[in-house]
Amino acid sequence: MTTFVTGDTHSDPLKRFEKLFGWVEQKGKTPLTKDDVVLIAGDFGVVWGDGTPKDIRIENSILDTLESMPFTTLFIDGNHENFDRLMRFPVESRYCGNVGVLRPSVLHLRQRGHVYSIGGRKIWCFGGGISVDKNYRKEGSSWWSQEEPSDEEYRYGMSQLEKHNWEVDFVVTHAGPSGAVESMKLPPLRESFGGMVNEYDPVSPYLEHVSRKLRFNKWFFGHYHMDISELSSVTADSCVSREEGNFTAIYHYIYELL
Ligand SMILES: [Fe+2]
Repeated sequence: MTTFVTGDTHSDPLKRFEKLFGWVEQKGKTPLTKDDVVLIAGDFGVVWGDGTPKDIRIENSILDTLESMPFTTLFIDGNHENFDRLMRFPVESRYCGNVGVLRPSVLHLRQRGHVYSIGGRKIWCFGGGISVDKNYRKEGSSWWSQEEPSDEEYRYGMSQLEKHNWEVDFVVTHAGPSGAVESMKLPPLRESFGGMVNEYDPVSPYLEHVSRKLRFNKWFFGHYHMDISELSSVTADSCVSREEGNFTAIYHYIYELL
């Protein structure tokens, strides 16, 4: 079983998956099956909008296409999801945790802070993030308050890591730990919107706190729409293997977990 990780897909998920096919073909790997997994680091973005008949038609078409692909799609949520509808999908127990079932092989890893077991690896997942332009969005149409993790979810994340003795194989989050974000010099999101921002982001400091204690091989995060991989100067001590690239801001690139 192979596990791939990629970043935000909310612009056009199908393009990303076409790229995956091309990449696998190029590397001459064995054909993918539903045992293989593509894990999206938040902002899946397919369940979106007002839920008009047109929105639903587009959503169903994309989900059906993903279902027809020869792999399983998993995603954590980001800040661009319609949480009202996303959380209404039926829930099943898969990968040692709860998942929302959008299609039999398109699954939402809906427990923020849970350690899922995917391909025999422990992966700590923490979705959610802050829309810096939320003051310019309409609640229930282009913004949902559930994007911000609750106190209970923050606490749950800690309790899960405690249970796993603060050691996992990989981490997949939507926002990035503040130390890694600073060390990668990711452009402050406020500049992307010409000053139209809400600058306080409680998720990154929480993740930073976790990253200083947790032992892990690699940490992937989406949200910043950049592909950069490097060692965080701030949090280096927590990495199991102290090499370049323990922290990866991921967007279009598709990584294979080794
Ligand atoms: Fe995004």
